Amino acid sequence: MDRNLALEFVRVTEAAALACGRWIGRGNEKAADHAAVESMRKAFDSISFEGTIVIGEGERDEAPMLYIGEKVGGGTGPKIDIACDPLEGTAITAKGRSEALAVIAAAEQGNFLHAPDTYMQKLAVGPAARGVIDIRESPTWNLQRIAEATGKGIEDLMVIILDRPRHEDIIAEVREAGARIRMIGDGDVSAAIATAQAETGVDMLIGTGGAPEGVIAAAALRCLGGDMQGILKFRNDEEKVRASKMGITDFDKIYSHEELASGNVMFIATGVTNGSYLKGVVYSGKGVATTHSMVMRSESGTVREITSRHHLTKKPNLGW
Ligand code: FBP
Repeated sequence: MDRNLALEFVRVTEAAALACGRWIGRGNEKAADHAAVESMRKAFDSISFEGTIVIGEGERDEAPMLYIGEKVGGGTGPKIDIACDPLEGTAITAKGRSEALAVIAAAEQGNFLHAPDTYMQKLAVGPAARGVIDIRESPTWNLQRIAEATGKGIEDLMVIILDRPRHEDIIAEVREAGARIRMIGDGDVSAAIATAQAETGVDMLIGTGGAPEGVIAAAALRCLGGDMQGILKFRNDEEKVRASKMGITDFDKIYSHEELASGNVMFIATGVTNGSYLKGVVYSGKGVATTHSMVMRSESGTVREITSRHHLTKKPNLGW
């Protein structure tokens, strides 16, 4: 994959963030998501590549744009699979809370798990605890291993968990073990990335969230040198049927982050609302807006942080 594509793709996440940034705090999740999707869809076509959406807004019958199997890109150039979430954190955005992102992961054809729209049990850590985690073991066991690997005490560790009733037992066990918890309302892609960003102070993400988000998070952790494991969690038989059609045969398989997103991968994210490592979109009047993005590749491990000042009146086609 041409490394410059990663820098091209930042225009796509910027476009999505600029469009849905208009909906921050306005209580309309659907409008925020639609703005991001439409703008991301258009921006893809300004780039010369033959893209296929493998993780997107859902299956063709449920999503008008960026559906699984949709072709995107200018039509000529390298064949690339795209895993995207134009707005990761629709509720976050509608409520004006923190850590909403516009994200894309890209890889050569066939390198992303074709994850159905179901759940995934996830365990993610940063580079310091790479190789020591095991999703089959208890939260306490994993916290002990992370503490040893990072040289921290368990009481120093910060764990992110989605605030859901299904996580009651995990929350109780992590508290009992003595670690601290940041409970989040939404946004476990951002949380997984936070484990690999020292300045966030986050050591582990644990719990069950969206499976498509799991693949995107795995791509990010590949680039950042972190670690992640995931197990698909189906809510009903229909989801299992969908998964089988997508080529999944072992429903209990433990996926490593290398299996969720293999080969050379790129990951690009732009902040929508303010977060612990990316600032959100700022509109400063007179048609000027600023975005903050991260662009990274697994092959080189380089992480670029890009601040862009946009003159929106000069690009009226992208829906912002
Ligand atoms: P979207 O806003 O992109 O729909 O997803 C938000 C999210 O919190 C993900 O980060 C997470 O993986 C998933 O939803 C959790 O699902 P649920 O809300 O059903 O627990």
